Amino acid sequence: MKKRVAIVCGGRSSEHEISCISAGGVLAAIDRTLYEPVLIGITKSGSWVLIPDSHSMQIQGGSLPVVPENAPAVVADVAGFSSAGKALNIDIVFPLLHGPYGEDGTIQGLLEIADTPYVGSGVLASAVAMDKSFAKPIFASHGIATAPGIVVKKSEWDVNKAGVTKEVEALGLPVFVKPARGGSSRGTTKVKSIDALAAAVSEAHRFDPKAMIEKAIIGAEIECAVLEIDGVVKASVVGKIHIDSKFEFYDFEAKYLDGATSIELPAPIDLQTTSRIQESAVKAFQALGCSGLARVDFFVTPANEVIINELNTMPGFTATSVFPKMWAASGVSYPDVITHLLKSAERRTNGVLGN
Ligand SMILES: Nc1ncnc2c1ncn2[C@@H]1O[C@H](COP(=O)(O)OP(=O)(O)O)[C@@H](O)[C@H]1O
Ligand SMILES: [Mg+2]
Repeated sequence: MKKRVAIVCGGRSSEHEISCISAGGVLAAIDRTLYEPVLIGITKSGSWVLIPDSHSMQIQGGSLPVVPENAPAVVADVAGFSSAGKALNIDIVFPLLHGPYGEDGTIQGLLEIADTPYVGSGVLASAVAMDKSFAKPIFASHGIATAPGIVVKKSEWDVNKAGVTKEVEALGLPVFVKPARGGSSRGTTKVKSIDALAAAVSEAHRFDPKAMIEKAIIGAEIECAVLEIDGVVKASVVGKIHIDSKFEFYDFEAKYLDGATSIELPAPIDLQTTSRIQESAVKAFQALGCSGLARVDFFVTPANEVIINELNTMPGFTATSVFPKMWAASGVSYPDVITHLLKSAERRTNGVLGN
């Protein structure tokens, strides 16, 4: 019997449309000899709906897909998913959601309570990876280097700007100021002079009352994809991000404007450094207790120091996203990546008493 897979996409985060494109990709590539997909959308206002087959999840005429507001409602509760009073009989859920309420452990908690297997990391790993102020000290305690920096809550900044400014001067400029639970580089600013600090902190606090201020690392941005294959955690070929020189860093526009960035696979780095990156990626995955998949992002300095930047538990997952590209370059096709993820979900090592 084919397993019924609910692909859950959209959501309340700013990455709603990217999630829909990822869902369109999975829908087109999932092995239909093994799985029967059911598309469930979360609208921008937070309602759950059953997306009809006729609704396009691809980019059409330059406009991005969204979850329709007027589709039949889905009820998700302790009994699982239903629509119009009928159980949807879902065997596995693929939560293809990015950012808050999707990648941060909240939907994972709902699925745990409903006792439904799901793709990816569990509650704790998802939540920790989402909050860089918690992930960084865990990486550091496992011997993975991180950028020196401080955490600045809005409540602290409001009463102690002078003290925080002194700490930033001690770190040394330039620094990056960013939301602790951000994504897509939103709210992130490179600060080159102390006069620009206050505006950057306010900008980060618009997205999250907790900001991170980090010493700017000079180096290449190198990414490595991690995938659990038959219970074994594997690292992909590593890739180097190339950003058009008109961008100061890998900001929102660089990420999403057509042609602004590309990934070089494999990255032009020596074998020894490549292995250190792959080992660090697996170590970071295990340090946070991740399951299924992750994209681990690093800086590699001119002296070949490997510094972790962040770990994403639900990276962009369209057919042309970095994560599937890194696996394709490692000999695992997009449909096979999806099958490995669904098989790992069935092992249920991401459960509350799992990894
Ligand atoms: N400490 C840092 N040193 C150098 N560049 C940084 C640093 N922190 C962030 N950046 C730049 O900002 C981008 C976005 O920051 P990141 O921490 O990856 O947040 P997001 O979760 O939004 O992707 C990075 O890809 C990088 O270009
Ligand atoms: Mg990033």
